Amino acid sequence: MNELGPRRLLVLGGTGFLGARVVSAAAELQHEVLVASRGLNERGAPPPGRAQAVVLDLSEAGTCEDLIIEFRPHSIINCAALARPDLCESSPELAQTVNAGLPDRLARLAFSEGIRLVHVSTDLVFDGEPPRPSGYRESDPASPVSTYGLSKLEGDRRILEGCPSALVVRLPLLYGGTSGEADGASGSIAAALKRGKSLSLFTDEYRTPLDVSEAARAMLELDAGEARGLLHVGGPRSISRFDLGLLVLRNLGIESDESSGLLHGVTRQELDLKPQRPRDVSLDSRLARDQVSFRLSTPEDRLLAPGFNK
Ligand SMILES: NC(=O)c1ccc[n+]([C@@H]2O[C@H](COP(=O)([O-])OP(=O)(O)OC[C@H]3O[C@@H](n4cnc5c(N)ncnc54)[C@H](OP(=O)(O)O)[C@@H]3O)[C@@H](O)[C@H]2O)c1
Repeated sequence: MNELGPRRLLVLGGTGFLGARVVSAAAELQHEVLVASRGLNERGAPPPGRAQAVVLDLSEAGTCEDLIIEFRPHSIINCAALARPDLCESSPELAQTVNAGLPDRLARLAFSEGIRLVHVSTDLVFDGEPPRPSGYRESDPASPVSTYGLSKLEGDRRILEGCPSALVVRLPLLYGGTSGEADGASGSIAAALKRGKSLSLFTDEYRTPLDVSEAARAMLELDAGEARGLLHVGGPRSISRFDLGLLVLRNLGIESDESSGLLHGVTRQELDLKPQRPRDVSLDSRLARDQVSFRLSTPEDRLLAPGFNK
């Protein structure tokens, strides 16, 4: 792995759940950061540190190309996406434009300009029936069951065809704070529980969740390294959404679900699943362990750590 010297980074989608953490972590490392996103004002906060920001609709061809030529980043980190599966189902053309068309444009430009390109993808490119208990490896064929997964897989393909030196990081379900915004797996569960809303969560749907701040830190280390192609960066443990919900309850100081009555475990069969949800998209991330300098935490490590994101 290379040393993390200061670099000039363009973070696309740097206002999103993941992108904002990438920008904060990059600012802490003294990188020069330019954030390009559509709604910089929606989340209110200015970018941290020395980060600069521009508002762009990245779905429009030509928008980021001029910016890249002008800013001449060492790296482009693409966190921009239509990342909500329900929105992808209702707007499949937009999903294709943002999740596949944008990566296509970025790959061509990064290749012709010799710029490092790190693109974020998802475990939802898989169909949910992993070929082994340890989960999906990079070499396993992807076969998405949703419009979101299909558009993201197309993005992966176009990145690697257009820029073979690029890195596509496939991330798992991301969780983060339980106090602030309702973003991410733990935030959305916590926000509902704090409103006293009871939740039904799947007991038989599995992911390898990762703390969003650790994902951001790993992305920056990988950007500074030489990895290329596909890389899975999932958490070290496969758990159900219901078990993640129990950890969020404990993080909020509610020790017993039975007494709270707030969480209900349901099976996939009990609910009408639309859009299609894969059963088990756990990622086997053994290759990433050699590329990242720190140990990725389990949800227990993070959510039960004293004061985590409260
Ligand atoms: N969250 C997860 O659990 C998870 C899991 C696996 C993989 N991922 C991947 O991680 C990446 C980031 O996801 P996220 O959860 O951080 O999503 P997010 O919170 O929805 O952020 C997406 C970012 O992209 C920007 N964006 C979308 N369309 C745009 C457009 N047309 N022009 C300019 N900016 C645009 C958004 O800006 P606006 O807010 O202004 O629209 C936002 O900054 C995605 O590639 C996603 O597939 C996420």
